[in-house]
Amino acid sequence: MADILYEGKAKIIYPTPDPAIVLAVFKDDATAFNAQKRGTIPGKGTVNATVSAKLFLLLERSGVPTHYIDQPAANQLLFRRLKMIPLEVVVRNIVAGSLVKRTGLASGTVLGEAIVEFYYKNDALGDPLLNDEHILKVLATVDALQLAELRRSAMQVNAILSAFYHECGIRLVDFKLEYGYDGAGQLQLGDELSPDNCRLWTLKEDRILDKDRFRFDMGEVEGAYQEVLARVVAKAGP
Ligand code: TMP
Ligand code: ASP
Repeated sequence: MADILYEGKAKIIYPTPDPAIVLAVFKDDATAFNAQKRGTIPGKGTVNATVSAKLFLLLERSGVPTHYIDQPAANQLLFRRLKMIPLEVVVRNIVAGSLVKRTGLASGTVLGEAIVEFYYKNDALGDPLLNDEHILKVLATVDALQLAELRRSAMQVNAILSAFYHECGIRLVDFKLEYGYDGAGQLQLGDELSPDNCRLWTLKEDRILDKDRFRFDMGEVEGAYQEVLARVVAKAGP
């Protein structure tokens, strides 16, 4: 294959003959805690590419612009090339993970309304939490209108994906999004939408079906990813 444009922890991005389009090859490699923990989840690349493709299509149909174009192979997706905003946009419906540490609230506490958080996408700093002042006045990552648009879009994505996952018998606890601008300057949802960057608990029994199984050595990691794929494909269609 052609030279690599970029290699991340979970994906390799290749150029294509069209400079506006890139090919993402999803890896089975898994990392956690800023890559301090490493491993492999067999089949993860295919699960994450396929689940992402289904969810990007669902969002597009609901009016959310995304970078998704096509799935040319099981673990590969074609994306529009974006200039990425260096923010991780996290939406939370239920208290879990770092929000437990930050607030002392019990994991599983349902939030009255969903919240949006922004983290600085910077591995060297460990992706720290940012407030609006940091984003607007210190880093000048985006302006106030763009920040408002990110919040609005993230809440819209949450409404669409929460309703879809509910139909799959899954609670969408929280998730991370990344956005970028296309060549025409339009904001688009980028990256991936997979069990690597969501928390997914079954409606019955609160069974964990996401990367927390890998992060915290809970076992049955591969089975959980395959279960998400099966449930998503059963609802979204092949
Ligand atoms: P957190 O509770 O650890 O802050 O994670 C919130 C959500 O963001 C959760 O769904 C997992 C996801 N996430 C990522 O996708 N990448 C990351 O590097 C981290 C820390 C979290
Ligand atoms: N993806 C991040 C890493 O590899 C963190 C995580 O998902 O827990 O470090």
